[in-house]
Amino acid sequence: MVKLTLPKNSKVGKGKHWPAPAGAQKVKTFRIYRWDPEGVTNPKWDTYDVAVDQCGPMVLDALIHIKNTMDPTLAFRRSCREGVCGSCAMNIGGRNTLACTHGWEEVPGDAVQIAPLPSQAVVKDLIPDLTLFYAQYASIEPWLHTTTPEPQTEWLQSEKDRAKLDGLYECILCACCSTSCPSYWWNGDRYLGPAALLQAYRWLIDSRDEATGERLDALEDPFKLYRCHTIMNCAQVCPKGLNPAKAIAKIKSMMVERVI
Ligand code: SF4
Ligand code: SF4
Ligand code: FES
Repeated sequence: MVKLTLPKNSKVGKGKHWPAPAGAQKVKTFRIYRWDPEGVTNPKWDTYDVAVDQCGPMVLDALIHIKNTMDPTLAFRRSCREGVCGSCAMNIGGRNTLACTHGWEEVPGDAVQIAPLPSQAVVKDLIPDLTLFYAQYASIEPWLHTTTPEPQTEWLQSEKDRAKLDGLYECILCACCSTSCPSYWWNGDRYLGPAALLQAYRWLIDSRDEATGERLDALEDPFKLYRCHTIMNCAQVCPKGLNPAKAIAKIKSMMVERVI
């Protein structure tokens, strides 16, 4: 029988407990993954008892409250605070989602457990290294490819063709889907993952784009596209309600249709 052992530094230890301030009326516990690349210790779970009546209703509100009033060393990304920029994606209560649109009261259990997006290297605490994710997005060349001379004004598109982009253009590249995809966990260096493939389809069906053949050629690879096994984690976690698995299936259909 194969015996699997984890490397020593992959074990997450018990960290520090941060008590609530004296006199706190309503307290909620947050268990947060901490790792400092400049430190010498393994990652650990720090536990913060937060006076939640002093912060807003979202997980991001609690994180900002912790950083401002309890522990300024806690690191996480955020920007818009309204589900638009995608930068606050993290794993909350075991599910990838946006901290700014997910209420801490929605998380079941005694404590709100927060970890960085899974399967990516960690830069610090809740910040994943998304270098590869962005490189994969760039690889699908997310801009209009045309050979027709540029029009004097804008590229025109019928309402019907524009509607084909619905369910695709809304993607905020938060990476919740790709980092919840088991195929991406195992083959993330070669499989493009649901986010990049949803974006690839967005350009493939844009009526103004004139490089459909070249785009399909670039995806014709045993790993880039065909590692999707329709497990559907991606569609379940997308905070914008998109369905990357469906977009991937449509690309596969386009591949088949062009060889028939
Ligand atoms: S498809 Fe959804 S989960 Fe995936 S990157 Fe786009 S917005 Fe995020
Ligand atoms: S449907 Fe495909 S892309 Fe989505 S989680 Fe499953 S394997 Fe990954
Ligand atoms: S802070 Fe921009 S999506 Fe959450």
